[in-house]
Amino acid sequence: MMRQKTGMMRRTKRRRLPSEPMRIQDSLAAKKRLIERELERLLSRDDSRLFPVMRYAVLPGGKRFRPLLLLSSGACFNAAPRLLLPFGCAIELIHNYSLVHDDLPSMDNDDFRRSKPTCHRAFGEDLAILAGDALLTLAFEVMAGAAFPAVALRRKQEAIRVISRSAGVDGLIGGQVLDITLTPEKLTRPKIDELIRKKTGALIAAAVEVGAILGRARPAERRDILDYGVNIGQAFQVRDDILDSIRKKKTGIPDRPDYVSFAGEEKARKRLEGLVRRAVSTLEGFSSRAEELRYLSASLLAPDPETADS
Ligand code: IPE
Ligand code: IPE
Ligand code: MG
Ligand code: MG
Ligand code: MG
Repeated sequence: MMRQKTGMMRRTKRRRLPSEPMRIQDSLAAKKRLIERELERLLSRDDSRLFPVMRYAVLPGGKRFRPLLLLSSGACFNAAPRLLLPFGCAIELIHNYSLVHDDLPSMDNDDFRRSKPTCHRAFGEDLAILAGDALLTLAFEVMAGAAFPAVALRRKQEAIRVISRSAGVDGLIGGQVLDITLTPEKLTRPKIDELIRKKTGALIAAAVEVGAILGRARPAERRDILDYGVNIGQAFQVRDDILDSIRKKKTGIPDRPDYVSFAGEEKARKRLEGLVRRAVSTLEGFSSRAEELRYLSASLLAPDPETADS
């Protein structure tokens, strides 16, 4: 199945995803609407100078890949959407904070994100830093405040633990530290893999794992779904590196460590395909329950509308 999609990202071969049933797309679109509405609600306060900045950073424009993964993973185990949504939104808030800080002059020094000036370009570095901080803390407020039945409190606590860890030194932050400290001559395959796994893979894997936790997956199912998440998380960053290299618009520190600069574009594409194939193979035991997760992984091999030229 995946072999058929080989090369789908190539600019000259822009094809549609294979004829997946419309109902998968409809179901994902409905989930995305739910996420957008809840994010708007969470950011609707107007009592601080910071909220317009936070709204600018989050609304609109993201693909919402992580909360979609969380909701789809939870759906595999029949978790109630009302239990999943606060965690999906919290992960999206953490992701958006990380983008605001990632774009800062002292990090990647980027001027544009989602076709708009970056947060610090629009509001100044001071407010951008504070808006990022506020998005991160809001995420924890949202998770801690999520209404849960008393019998499920242990699951809520475990979900918060998994997300906290993925966003911290062993995950996103640790990966960003590697990103700024590794130099091309220090790069090895294990190092670049660790970088990718931490800075981007960890939060994505956590999104998938939390769906399983909240859905009371059995330990073996949780392991399989986490395996899927780890592979898809790495695939996501390899794809991002390929797209960045196509856009040729990296304005940050030259020779930043990424998968394309390390291995070249062809190898990066092969690695992306291999990671997606492995992710899909871990879902074998889930049959039709996991069709949305399969679809989301296949979307990583689809052409990107921004970089496709036809
Ligand atoms: C971009 O993430 C940054 C990476 C971690 C690679 P996304 O591609 O998910 O960004 P949005 O949220 O859809 O804009
Ligand atoms: C971003 O990686 C990773 C995090 C924000 C944690 P990149 O620096 O490659 O993301 P883009 O290309 O700016 O979206
Ligand atoms: Mg970066
Ligand atoms: Mg960046
Ligand atoms: Mg990038």
